[in-house]
Amino acid sequence: MLKALRQPIREFESFHEATKLTRINAIAFSQRVISYMSTPRLVLETLRNKKAFRNSEVQTLPAPESDKKQFHKIMTRRATQRRFLPTPLSLADISNLLEPALGVQRRANSTAHPKESLGFRPYPSGGGLYPIEFYILAKRVEGHAPFVAHYSPSNNSLTMLHRDLSPEALDEPFIYTDAQQKNNAMVLVMTSLTERSATKYGDRGYRLALIEAGHAAQNICLNAEAMNLGTAAWAGFYDEDIEKLIGIDGVNESVVHTLLIGHRNIST
Ligand SMILES: Cc1cc2nc3c(=O)[nH]c(=O)nc-3n(C[C@H](O)[C@H](O)[C@H](O)COP(=O)(O)O)c2cc1C
Repeated sequence: MLKALRQPIREFESFHEATKLTRINAIAFSQRVISYMSTPRLVLETLRNKKAFRNSEVQTLPAPESDKKQFHKIMTRRATQRRFLPTPLSLADISNLLEPALGVQRRANSTAHPKESLGFRPYPSGGGLYPIEFYILAKRVEGHAPFVAHYSPSNNSLTMLHRDLSPEALDEPFIYTDAQQKNNAMVLVMTSLTERSATKYGDRGYRLALIEAGHAAQNICLNAEAMNLGTAAWAGFYDEDIEKLIGIDGVNESVVHTLLIGHRNIST
């Protein structure tokens, strides 16, 4: 597949490989984070995330309407949730969460191949090529033992890859620091089949793929917020563990993002 314009090794493959978290480099990685956290000067320099301009005019904007629209409320309420209740989701919850955020919502015929129907999704994608794929690592779903599945945005269905797993097997790839993080009901894993984008755009296609993952992830965060569910974007994972779990090679298809999803614990 996609061999016509394939180079032996693309730049993005080496870059992606070099930024994977492993059980070995995680030690140096966490030392770096600890060293940053214990250097007040660095923390101060980086937390001032407000660009200042000298000698430029500032035009203030009118305050946004105080009677906020429902959508404004959802956007402004979103916050990372790190405390979940061990309450399951139903398959209906999963459908309500994923389909409006990721599912194909309209179709058009391809100009180049008029017999091919193209599906467009609710989030933007460079060239409409949709290199990002979705998997769920489901720990707490009513009527199901923990499972791993691929989610299809074309027909809102799950292709079951592994069933009857232990919850521990699905926790293994993640760096959790307390039990309430582990209580998440499922993790949405986003992978990139970057060649889909790189065949047309070369290495720049990798950038487009990462941006697309961000757009899709935000759709999920906001839809979860509207459903009173909590989400946490989670970079604390061992790439290779997830690759093994979902059966990808980590080169042609690699993990780019994960989101913890579950019922929030508002009592703590
Ligand atoms: C790409 C990405 C990865 C993240 N990974 C982690 C993580 O591994 N662990 C964690 O506790 N928070 C993680 N976060 C959450 C951030 O800490 C959080 O978004 C930030 O503190 C701002 O807080 P807010 O999301 O509540 O607005 C991640 C956020 C992003 C965007």
